[in-house]
Amino acid sequence: MSTQLTWQEVVAATSDDTEAVAAALAARLADGAVVVLRGDLGAGKTVFARGLARAFGITEPVTSPTFTLVQEYRRPAGGWFFHLDLYRIGAEADAAAFGIEEFLFNPHAVTAIEWPERIPDLLGEPLTCDADGRLRGVVPVLLIPLPAGGRRIRLPATSHE
Ligand SMILES: Nc1ncnc2c1ncn2[C@@H]1O[C@H](COP(=O)(O)OP(=O)(O)OP(=O)(O)O)[C@@H](O)[C@H]1O
Ligand SMILES: [Mg+2]
Repeated sequence: MSTQLTWQEVVAATSDDTEAVAAALAARLADGAVVVLRGDLGAGKTVFARGLARAFGITEPVTSPTFTLVQEYRRPAGGWFFHLDLYRIGAEADAAAFGIEEFLFNPHAVTAIEWPERIPDLLGEPLTCDADGRLRGVVPVLLIPLPAGGRRIRLPATSHE
């Protein structure tokens, strides 16, 4: 039997559903994984990051603060959850200057990034999956608002063959 990486699309009718989709993904992330959250303004990226945090047992508020690029949360079970929001970063050089690499692919952390488009050159690790289905590298998540109000969420799936 081998594990294959594929894609899945799910519909989240409410922001609670978005958090639940994130929680299901959290259970499949290896430490060092970087979840890149793509989607327009208001697509639900911060809600998704909050769902990851909740799944890790983090109870602190998870928001996107205006003047902070990174929020560091200690996971009760050990290690860290880093939440980066790069909306306000000007150039990739600014991110490097700020020391962003400490927060990427850190073997003791899972990282979620809003506006990963700001740092394309720093996100080159391919997505891979272990025999047990655990995801490593850059894990892409796309959130698309639906006319009816919910969100379509595209993210990796694994299937066993
Ligand atoms: N599945 C969903 N259905 C309906 N509303 C949702 C859903 N998921 C999230 N939302 C709502 O979308 C709004 C914006 O969410 P959020 O702040 O997470 O977006 P964002 O992508 O982080 O925005 P920004 O680009 O400004 O950082 C919130 O009011 C949130 O409750
Ligand atoms: Mg946000």
